[in-house]
Amino acid sequence: MSVTKLGYASLRSTDLEATISYYTDLIGLRLIDRDSEGRAYLQTVDAQDHHCLVLTKSDRAGLDHAGYKVNDPSDLAEAARALAEREIKAHHVSASTLKGQGEGLRFTAPSGHDFVLFYHADKIDYATGMSNPDPVSESARGGAAHLDHMVVTCEHPWELGRLFCELFGFYVTEQVVAPDGNIVIPFLSCTNTMHDLAVVPGPNGGFHHIAFSFESRSDVIAKADLLRHHHVQLFDYGVSKHGIAGVTTTYTYDPSGNRNELFNGAYLTSGVVDRVPPIIWNPDGMDRGLFYYEGTAPESFSAVT
Ligand SMILES: [Fe+2]
Repeated sequence: MSVTKLGYASLRSTDLEATISYYTDLIGLRLIDRDSEGRAYLQTVDAQDHHCLVLTKSDRAGLDHAGYKVNDPSDLAEAARALAEREIKAHHVSASTLKGQGEGLRFTAPSGHDFVLFYHADKIDYATGMSNPDPVSESARGGAAHLDHMVVTCEHPWELGRLFCELFGFYVTEQVVAPDGNIVIPFLSCTNTMHDLAVVPGPNGGFHHIAFSFESRSDVIAKADLLRHHHVQLFDYGVSKHGIAGVTTTYTYDPSGNRNELFNGAYLTSGVVDRVPPIIWNPDGMDRGLFYYEGTAPESFSAVT
């Protein structure tokens, strides 16, 4: 079986209406639907699946679960068997538990994170439309192109990374390695981009950020300008660059406190498991790896989850 992409993030929201406005008015997502349970469903401009972000009203922020889309409907049964062999409990999720989504398989990884594997998503149009689309239409200009990746925290990052490699066809593109050779941070891909999931050291079940991809560096800078214009606080460094992945990046928080990354420039990978050896980062190179311009990372980058 294999996973084809990060389908969506289901985030908790302490101020649902303000958080919806943030993602639609500032980040450029589309509000696709709402349901009787109080959830809001949003999608980026360059995607056809029903949603990439689900917001649910709650008394605290954070990740409820992440949805990963599998390659074939039969993958769900295969995943259930593979998880059972590892004594990881999973349960069936009926179709339409979330709007626009088919049946799924939900499990809690040993890291404490909940994941839902699913195959079917109802289709919506691209923001530019499906008939003679205008690629520079007002409806799509400058908005987040797609949900790219998620970063979570746990006490043993490589254990979660290895699980996704062994069960779901992920492969490592870059890794931060300790002097003793242990993998401290794996960057994992199931597509042909640099990462669909990364795992950093921290509390089990922790959420670090979701990342939205933009078409250009100037789009990222324009978003940073827009966010500050609306008094949204950017991360300490403003617009910066990661050595790892080589992307132009900025971080901020939605009104509920969930961290977002807005970025451009992730390189393409082979898309084939174990075809290309991973890039290795060791402690000597981390002054370039984390934040290329600043040479270090502020404490809040790892402390806030
Ligand atoms: Fe990221």
